[in-house]
Amino acid sequence: MSFPKNFFWGASSSCAQVEGAYDVDGKGLTNWDTRRQNPGCCSFHYGSDFYHHYKEDIALMAEMGFKMFRLSISWARILPEGEGEINPKGIEFYKNVFAECHKYGIEPLVTIFHFDMPVALLEKYGSWANRKMIDAYVNYCKVLFENFKDDVNYWLTNNEYNVMIFYGAIDMSTGQPSDLNRLYNEGHNELVAMAKAIHLCHEMCPNAKIGPAPNIDTAYPATTNPLDYIAALDMNDLRNNMWLDPLVFGTYPASVNKYFKNHDIKLDIQDGDMEIMKTCKPDFIGFNCYGNSTVEHLDYYKIDWSEMAGADNRNMSYLMKMMEKPGLGKSVPNPLLPKAETDGHSYDPYCIRVTARRLSERYRLPLIITENGYGRPDTLEADGTIHDDYRIEHLRGMIREMEKGIEEGALLFGYCPWSAMDLVSTREGITKRYGFIYVDRDEDDEKAKTAEMKRYRKDSFYWYKKVIASNGADLD
Ligand code: BG6
Repeated sequence: MSFPKNFFWGASSSCAQVEGAYDVDGKGLTNWDTRRQNPGCCSFHYGSDFYHHYKEDIALMAEMGFKMFRLSISWARILPEGEGEINPKGIEFYKNVFAECHKYGIEPLVTIFHFDMPVALLEKYGSWANRKMIDAYVNYCKVLFENFKDDVNYWLTNNEYNVMIFYGAIDMSTGQPSDLNRLYNEGHNELVAMAKAIHLCHEMCPNAKIGPAPNIDTAYPATTNPLDYIAALDMNDLRNNMWLDPLVFGTYPASVNKYFKNHDIKLDIQDGDMEIMKTCKPDFIGFNCYGNSTVEHLDYYKIDWSEMAGADNRNMSYLMKMMEKPGLGKSVPNPLLPKAETDGHSYDPYCIRVTARRLSERYRLPLIITENGYGRPDTLEADGTIHDDYRIEHLRGMIREMEKGIEEGALLFGYCPWSAMDLVSTREGITKRYGFIYVDRDEDDEKAKTAEMKRYRKDSFYWYKKVIASNGADLD
């Protein structure tokens, strides 16, 4: 058996996608509450109503045998204006959630910031491009560490801070081409903010562990053409390494500096920034990993983003287009990846195995999977069952390869796929489901406002329970 004895089996969530109660008990608004949705998709206002169902949800997680539950804290529930006055009801809510987890021996893995930014801060400071955002974030972290130092042993700084930037050639909120210079400066400031949070956590919560949670993959070269191999190396630097190297080594990869120079991107690196990052010493690396990419050399230098303005970001081709990096590489389909038997989708069961080995060699730090999985519509049958064989097949393949990765040296200490219960997808409403626990609601916000949102156990619920009970040995 390859899974370590105290391996953290669990699953993940984020506050904006599960909590609902967007305007309840003093919570301030976030950009997710006010965000424009894709046509036909519900808002994030009611989520899966975890705010009122957390006891039932955590009991179901305990029934599955969870050792860990990843959730995020809503900045605007704690600090409705983003800074200043603390909302006692917000503190109380998370205290109750953590107590409920500990009652069952489940470790909360707590993300400090998972995409949802208080509107009040955006109005005051604009975006992460403004360095005042760093201070606001560090102040928020201080409130969290002060209030939850006895409740939380595992912290994650920011979720997928690399994704918005790497895939951000089109601004999601306007649908128009972005200013790349501003975008990468946002990324730099977020890295500095996270490094400061890591320092602060070590000072204020000496027994807790803290790490980042980017989305990390590995680029496969599309062919044996050396230029494709170089494109894959560069893509790994730009999409992945530049978001971890500063926090571990205090440097940006050289190929990224070259890319910035070629594209007139100038980071506003201030005195002390690199030193703060170099010395912060994350205790582990959390990373979301859904699949690796396959990359081909791209020798032209200009992409006309205007033709993508307003394009539908739900299409796979949209994300692939956003990976086109002039003069470097582009993402292409990989015909060699296996197809799932149940629904024929092509997926990459090797992604964690390959990426966790790569990160273990590069950083020599413990690793935890903070997201992985497959979202699709599920059907609630008349007898209350949900047959999500495709999900079982998908996760089985991942876990099988992950185990091999551990045998080969991947320093993994936990696996928290996406997601514990159904939740509102970032781009595809509640129709696209990821959970082991089914939540009975649809896209209709009016109905969701008062819906009971009954929970049901999917087939994958019972399967995952067996996986956990056998510490990954029984995957049938
Ligand atoms: C990750 C995010 O990018 O992917 C989650 O951290 C998100 O918040 C998940 O839900 C799946 O993406 P989507 O768009 O299907 O919800």
